[in-house]
Amino acid sequence: MVHAHMTAWFLAIILFFVALGLHKSGKQKGFKVLKMILRVLYILILATGLGLIFSLANISFLYIVKVVVGLWVIALVEIILGRTAKGENTKVLWIQFVIALILVLYLGFALPLGTYIF
Ligand code: HEM
Repeated sequence: MVHAHMTAWFLAIILFFVALGLHKSGKQKGFKVLKMILRVLYILILATGLGLIFSLANISFLYIVKVVVGLWVIALVEIILGRTAKGENTKVLWIQFVIALILVLYLGFALPLGTYIF
């Protein structure tokens, strides 16, 4: 489950940047397709993340924070892509994205399941 979760979010982050690249180079069709693929990946990230949560005997506070920040990253990816498509300002969202991503990676690797780095 940890590996499925890792694969899903890793792919989503890569495809997020590919989508932004496609938008920048004017390939709107590819951009739209990637947005749809990303939505499937959100579901996979969520399902595998919830699978991990439900595999625990007791859910500590840090796990709740991990879930909330994980959801925050997904929301930011979706909003940044939406605003970019409309040509709106995304600066504040990017700042939040960097902070949330660092936080979710830290929490993921600091919590006991799977890879335990910090
Ligand atoms: C894009 C968003 C997300 C990223 C980048 C992310 C990243 C990570 C990383 C790096 C790990 C550690 C894997 C390991 O230890 O080998 C992890 C574990 C986990 N994630 Fe996520 N995650 C995201 C979204 C979510 C969501 C939405 C949920 C809940 C619904 C969730 C729940 C969990 C749980 C429960 C774990 C196990 C924590 C542990 O190591 O004990 N994640 N995640």
